Amino acid sequence: MSKDTLTITDNSTGKEVEYPLLKGTLGNPTVDVRALKNDLGYFTFDPGFVSTASCKSAITYIDGEQGILLYRGYPIEELAENCSFLEVAYLLIHGELPNEQELNHFKFEIDDRAVLHESLRVFFDGFHYDAHPMAMMVGVVGSLSAFYHSDLDVTDPDNRYICATRMIAKIPAIAAACYRHSIGAPFVYPRVDLDYCENFLNMMFSRPEKRFLEQARAIDETAVKALNLLFILHADHEQNASTSTVRLAGSTGANPYACIAAGIAALWGPAHGGANEAVLSMLKEIGTVERIPEYIAKAKDKDDPFRLMGFGHRVYKNFDPRATIIRQTCHDVLRKSCQPDPLFDLAMALEEYALQDDYFIEKKLYPNVDFYSGIIYKALGIPVDMFTVMFAIARTAGWVAHWLEMTADTGNVIGRPRQLYVGPPQREFMPLHRR
Ligand code: CMC
Repeated sequence: MSKDTLTITDNSTGKEVEYPLLKGTLGNPTVDVRALKNDLGYFTFDPGFVSTASCKSAITYIDGEQGILLYRGYPIEELAENCSFLEVAYLLIHGELPNEQELNHFKFEIDDRAVLHESLRVFFDGFHYDAHPMAMMVGVVGSLSAFYHSDLDVTDPDNRYICATRMIAKIPAIAAACYRHSIGAPFVYPRVDLDYCENFLNMMFSRPEKRFLEQARAIDETAVKALNLLFILHADHEQNASTSTVRLAGSTGANPYACIAAGIAALWGPAHGGANEAVLSMLKEIGTVERIPEYIAKAKDKDDPFRLMGFGHRVYKNFDPRATIIRQTCHDVLRKSCQPDPLFDLAMALEEYALQDDYFIEKKLYPNVDFYSGIIYKALGIPVDMFTVMFAIARTAGWVAHWLEMTADTGNVIGRPRQLYVGPPQREFMPLHRR
């Protein structure tokens, strides 16, 4: 019998079937069970896809036990230390780090596609000033599909590449416009003389009478550095909920901008990208250092739905390598922040308390990247309801890389999970007058 197989025995019939084990370059082998339904008449049951590989991918590798995260084979620590976000975005899309010339050309492509169509800007007027920015993001990014439709051919690699770079290019301008709309400020155009993160901060905070980079020289370098780091750490995370959503929507051949809008919707939830916003809401609710033990007790109470936001992770069960990198930056940013905030002291006290608590130690619940990202964003003056939007800007690079990989894969099939039906069996219909 071949060693690279797994045998499944149906105990009700004694029938044995052998399935191939597929081995990747790293990580657990996967059992190819595609023939299971035809062979034995069974589906596999795996809610939340905890043991299911939905695709082959060469983009990101995570080892949750060891706390390893690689983009295209490169450890996140090295990329975070040495690269700009655009270099990492290039790496995710192309599979290789760019040389100087390639990076300059990539920056040119991004700059060239960064400006929003004037008619798209009008879309924002349809939103009330207090609309959640993630709601605006879903709507406006989805509406790009109406602007770039007639000339779109997803079977053409060049066309797909234009879509991908257009998405990375426009997302900061859309995100900043969501914020500017909410405060009633005029939109700011992107500038070619600024890098990706500087440009975003400039579009967020420039005022007609004073440019951000001039008004905030003192904090500017720390802010840009922290943002670059956070964008790199959030750029991709293999088959997470939002990326899987983009892939599932994309598997039908749907318009790519609409697929990214679907990814943004999935990211919004507090169990995923909404966690950084939820961290700040939680800190506000806790209020003071004295109340930490009360909330820790709530988090441990099985009958209380309260969870400590920014702690725990589906994949990382020992530590989140992104959190280790960002923790130091978080402490640096807080030290340099010219706006001291009691919430920061509370956050640091909560971190210390939870790291020493037996419940959190036993269940391996450590602060994840979003515990720190929310705090950093707050210190940089980013409004709390924009936190998940910040995540969406960074993750767009990952989403488009996965969409490109999937659409280029000739073996791509429409995503169509099965189910375990537990509803009523077929029954007799009753006309309305007899019910
Ligand atoms: N606070 C208190 N208890 C927790 C927490 C928490 N944050 N997270 C997990 N637990 C407990 C949970 O109650 C369970 O206890 P028991 O074994 O007694 O039933 C145990 O730990 C295992 O939890 P789980 O829900 O089975 O773990 P999961 O892998 O399904 O969930 C998670 C992962 C991230 C959804 C969860 O840890 C959580 O809700 N965390 C808070 C939200 C958060 O910070 N999310 C951002 C994740 S990082 C961003 C990203 O990559 O998208």
